[in-house]
Amino acid sequence: MECFLNNTKVFIDENYEELSLRSAQIIKNQVDAVPGTVLGLATGSTLIGTYDELVRLHKAGEVDFSKVVSFNLDEYFPIKKSDNQSYYYYMKKHLFNHVNILAENTHIPDSEAADYEAECAAYEEKITAHGGIDLQILGIGNNGHIGFNEPGDAFISQAHYVKLDESTIKANSRFFDNENDVPKHAITVGMRTIMTAKKILLLASGEKKAEAIFQTIHGAITPRVPASILQLHPNVTIIADKEAARLLL
Ligand code: F6R
Repeated sequence: MECFLNNTKVFIDENYEELSLRSAQIIKNQVDAVPGTVLGLATGSTLIGTYDELVRLHKAGEVDFSKVVSFNLDEYFPIKKSDNQSYYYYMKKHLFNHVNILAENTHIPDSEAADYEAECAAYEEKITAHGGIDLQILGIGNNGHIGFNEPGDAFISQAHYVKLDESTIKANSRFFDNENDVPKHAITVGMRTIMTAKKILLLASGEKKAEAIFQTIHGAITPRVPASILQLHPNVTIIADKEAARLLL
């Protein structure tokens, strides 16, 4: 089902598989239309189905990443790139190793940098030098975070080093042996990079995202729910499965 809610285009899909096919198709259409597209990429469990489908489309000769440039939203800091929980590792595993994107065109905040402040500034400069993001893909935290822009007192514009929210550490502990192993800090792009993207595609799957999705679309615009700022962006598409959309209709 497709509808407009509070000026946001929303697709409500039956299940995660349909959501993944739809989001991969939107990304493919963007790359077909603008081969040198600058994609803003996210990690996490929600994106895995989308990347699987993009890999399938690429192997079927239906999408060409040879001119695509990508910037990931965020990365734990510090973490070894070789660690199987780093987002560097995730991106290679789920997408980069299986499509024809050029390694030099992919960017992820450097989790091994000596100085995180310098890395944040350099990362943001690189995004600006590429003219910003054409299509920004977002997941959403149970707490409404986008990238690792966590709930707080202000929307932070710049790329920054962030202490992860307790709820994020808890949510992400499902990927680790135990909660203590989850990195406590990360580097994330700020709201300026997200909000100046030409188009935004936000994906949400599962019951745990229902409240965040409701607040994102219908709630007050507040840094307590970081994704609520998307109400101010002119070109946002949200794809939710039935569970994540439970409070919408
Ligand atoms: C990760 C990111 C995060 C995730 C969010 C949802 O790069 O940007 O905002 O999108 O935490 O994660 P999952 O999909 O694992 O529920």
